[in-house]
Amino acid sequence: MKVTIETLRQAKANRQKFSVVSCYDYTSAKLVAAAGVDVLLVGDSASQFMLGFDSTLPVTMDFMLAITAAVRRAAPDLLLVADMPYAGCRNGTAETVINAERFAKQAGADIVKIETAESDIETIKAVISSGIPVMPHLGIRPQTGKYKAEGATADVAAEIIKLAEQMYKAGAEMLLLEGTAREAAKIITEKLPIPVISCGSGPDCNGQVLILPDILNLKDGPVPKFSKSFADIGKASIDAIASYDRQIKQGTFPDDSHSYHMKSGEYEKLKRLIS
Ligand code: KIV
Repeated sequence: MKVTIETLRQAKANRQKFSVVSCYDYTSAKLVAAAGVDVLLVGDSASQFMLGFDSTLPVTMDFMLAITAAVRRAAPDLLLVADMPYAGCRNGTAETVINAERFAKQAGADIVKIETAESDIETIKAVISSGIPVMPHLGIRPQTGKYKAEGATADVAAEIIKLAEQMYKAGAEMLLLEGTAREAAKIITEKLPIPVISCGSGPDCNGQVLILPDILNLKDGPVPKFSKSFADIGKASIDAIASYDRQIKQGTFPDDSHSYHMKSGEYEKLKRLIS
């Protein structure tokens, strides 16, 4: 059955949690879909984990479109969230609207996530008026370069709660809260009727998102405090590739069972032809 925004609204109404994974390619998205996850996010963290940059800023709109379309091909029935990269929204509202439409039309995205401050409300409204559902991303916004947890004081928590309400009133269909104090995230989740997704904002939100490199432990170094690795596929991958390398060097792979052969009698014919 197709997962839609309405499916997640129902889940919220029934107090059922849902899972979201941020991943960046066809093969990984197939695995995530087979695991029963509800929502796929193609995050601009692809900038670091696919392209090796040290922030989310350099990834281009064209690259995000190509990988979002690949993830859609892998999972036609899941809700697909496209992440608006900095390059797609840095030139103002008109260009942000065009790029949101490209995500929907060219890549098959159901909803576009946009990192949002109070000054972006008009842009959010314009994208929504163009018919593209929006998921504002509040709290830590990696595109600003600031990674400090948000909402630790009453004043800042009150600002995030106010912004979340403004986004809902502007027509946001869902919200993502990154690195926001659990207490503030809980208040937002309870106040608003739309699904709220936590990325390191505590267990009280309706859904949770992690990036696939954390879930599988594919990165160098530890995962952040709020995240968790559920298997060590990084180590298992290195072991498998080392085994491949060893067998080639030992001459045990490939053997005849991995080879194609000429039809009967053709080898003798070939030898006569080339002699
Ligand atoms: O870029 C990304 O993958 C994200 C998630 C971590 C929420 O924005």
